[in-house]
Amino acid sequence: MKKRVFSGARPTARQHLGNYLGAIQNYVALQEEYDCIYCVVDIHALTTMQDTSKLQQYIHDIVLDWLAAGMDPQKSIIFVQSHVPEVMELHTLLSMVTPLGWLMRVPTFKEKAKLQPDNVNYGLVGYPVLQTADIILYKAEAVPIGEDQLPHLEIAREIVRRFNNQFGETFPEPQAKLTYFPRIVGLDGTDKMGKSSNNAIEIANTPEETLERVMAAVTDPARRYRNDPGHPEICNIYSLHNYFSSSEVDDIARQCRSAEIGCVDCKKLLAEHINTTMQPVRERRIALAEKPQYVTDVLLDGVKRASVIARETMLEVRQKMGLV
Ligand code: TRP
Ligand code: SF4
Repeated sequence: MKKRVFSGARPTARQHLGNYLGAIQNYVALQEEYDCIYCVVDIHALTTMQDTSKLQQYIHDIVLDWLAAGMDPQKSIIFVQSHVPEVMELHTLLSMVTPLGWLMRVPTFKEKAKLQPDNVNYGLVGYPVLQTADIILYKAEAVPIGEDQLPHLEIAREIVRRFNNQFGETFPEPQAKLTYFPRIVGLDGTDKMGKSSNNAIEIANTPEETLERVMAAVTDPARRYRNDPGHPEICNIYSLHNYFSSSEVDDIARQCRSAEIGCVDCKKLLAEHINTTMQPVRERRIALAEKPQYVTDVLLDGVKRASVIARETMLEVRQKMGLV
């Protein structure tokens, strides 16, 4: 039997090039070797989202981004977290074997608590427990994630160990799959391409919007005049050339260092290459968006297939925990 993969994304914005290069291309490739389950984690989004008026739109957008990029509902289960309510039951049960200390020490919790001091809700503390429930409800063994998620996966593994110890061997210990997750710098040069800020190029952006955002990006601050030599290694435009201009990337670095190329031309070149690379994905996205029922159908099929596995796991969990 193929190993099972599970991963999720929070529907707080449309997916950007950082997601595409880092996560989505990886998801697409994994479909060939694994049984993949990809989940839009709407409950997780609620831990930081107070205005939920755009939630349904974001869910729809992410699924469109995923399908356009080649995630295939014939091969993978694509579904929305809250459509399988068993995950919330498992979350509650797992909370009984999770020491509060583990959760309070998680770096992402401390960061978010600092970012939203007026909304340090109970759900935010339990975030990694819900993430664990996501993964083990489907007994997934491999979890493609970025480095920032490693502490969450470590908690998942510890919860699994505890559960198995206390109630008998039930869940496999999930392994992080860190293969190929490049760090993409945000266009404002301060952060990685952020989901919720406007320092990102989205999969759904038009070629014109792409050009506009690239032209507005921060480059090497040492290049104040056209003749100033540049430092490509600290320039986020250059780091994107690495992914979209691979055959020319050494030339670009040389021309930047010798001031043969100016930032304006360098950016135009990048925008062109991004637009060429993304064109098939964007065209597919436009075509799919014209069939509004399609996303709904994919998610309906996804929830059916996910529920079969979830129900089976919960029968076993309730038995093992003495609830039946
Ligand atoms: N916490 C993940 C993130 O912010 C999203 C997520 C939720 C997830 N459940 C998951 C990722 C399960 C992998 C597996 O990116
Ligand atoms: Fe960056 Fe290109 Fe300008 Fe060099 S020429 S600083 S790589 S934008």
